[in-house]
Amino acid sequence: MFSTRLFDKKKIVIGVTGCIAAYKTCHLVRHLMQEGASVRVMMTRGATHFITPLTLESLSQTPVYTDMFPENQFAATHHVDLADWADACAIVPATGNTIGKIANGIGDDFLSTTVMAMGERIPIMIAPAMNHHMWFSAAVQRNIGVLAADGKEICYPEEGYLAEGYEGVGRLARLEFLVQSLYRAMHPAPQSLQGKTVVVTAGATREYLDPVRFLSNRSTGKMGYAIAWEAYARGAKVVLIHGPGHLTAPMGVELVSVESAEDMFVAANDYFDDSDIYVSAAAVADYRPERIYDHKLKKGERNFPLHLERTRDVLQIMGARKKGHQRLIGFAVETEDPVGNARHKMIKKYLDMIVLNNPHESGAAFEHDTNVVTLIDAAKEENLPVMPKLDVAREIFEFLLNG
Ligand code: CTP
Repeated sequence: MFSTRLFDKKKIVIGVTGCIAAYKTCHLVRHLMQEGASVRVMMTRGATHFITPLTLESLSQTPVYTDMFPENQFAATHHVDLADWADACAIVPATGNTIGKIANGIGDDFLSTTVMAMGERIPIMIAPAMNHHMWFSAAVQRNIGVLAADGKEICYPEEGYLAEGYEGVGRLARLEFLVQSLYRAMHPAPQSLQGKTVVVTAGATREYLDPVRFLSNRSTGKMGYAIAWEAYARGAKVVLIHGPGHLTAPMGVELVSVESAEDMFVAANDYFDDSDIYVSAAAVADYRPERIYDHKLKKGERNFPLHLERTRDVLQIMGARKKGHQRLIGFAVETEDPVGNARHKMIKKYLDMIVLNNPHESGAAFEHDTNVVTLIDAAKEENLPVMPKLDVAREIFEFLLNG
């Protein structure tokens, strides 16, 4: 049965190693718990210099593992017991030292021994964080290559301001990336889109009336971002054309930021011919003010008549240009005869598939992290229960590619 929480009932072991970024692990633990996971934490000695076990004990509501042989406890198989308990493991942050140990099969503390006991049967995500020069050292790069080849999911460090006081690569990936990487480790996507280009549109557009006022809608872009992430996880080259918003861009995706429906048309026009799959998840405005004032409008005594004109239907124009190998996915929000209207839209816009949002269902559509949709193509339709948008994205590609 589908759940509305991304890590519902999942048992996740978080390994923390000695790095200043260890404090950020607290946010991850809390986030995973909120998403339904049971979390157990193991820390290296080094990690306990940066944050206390008590902090992570309080957040995870369970004792933290630090010692291989804790005093006054029978602990001979603790590492195997924890490995057997886990559905997944994330090492956050991972130092060069621990990366080296895991890559080379060294178990000389509780954390590295437990990871060894997990072997290849449990998905493991590793999020390195360290100084720029350490990260690019030959040994660390070689060990990361070994871990990736062994099937570990690497959540690569980001570039930015480092604790040492200068810029470089080595910052722990942001929370959203950690979550996406762990999710990906637990739901390895088939590399079904290797060599393909997927263009995704997401979010609302803004249609300006004057320099400070615009018409827009409630779309945040979460669904489109989830689709971009899933396409990337399946091996595609992904271009995400997105309207204004505050979402963190998914990893590895080329971003094109736009504002108006016309900007979205221009961007789509640029990228469409190179796409194998075009997913139109954006809530593009259908109308814009006929006149855009170049100064801020002052209020008058009387009502202000607002004349609107049609924007271009980006998806329909792309659909009309579709070549044989291209697949198009559109979205529809319908309140009357939803399936009939969605099918009509699918034909009118030359789509291969349409995703019908059911706005009246709780947990659906705008602003939520979950959605309730019906997937429709020429031959069939499938009603999905409420589920996280990342899961919806997975179902969309399954439906398109495998029927
Ligand atoms: N769409 C688009 N350009 C527009 C309007 C919509 O590309 N100017 C795309 C949306 O991204 C979506 C699909 O068309 O994938 C359907 O959008 P929707 O708003 O449901 O339908 P409309 O065609 O605008 O029709 P209506 O609002 O009358 O239902």
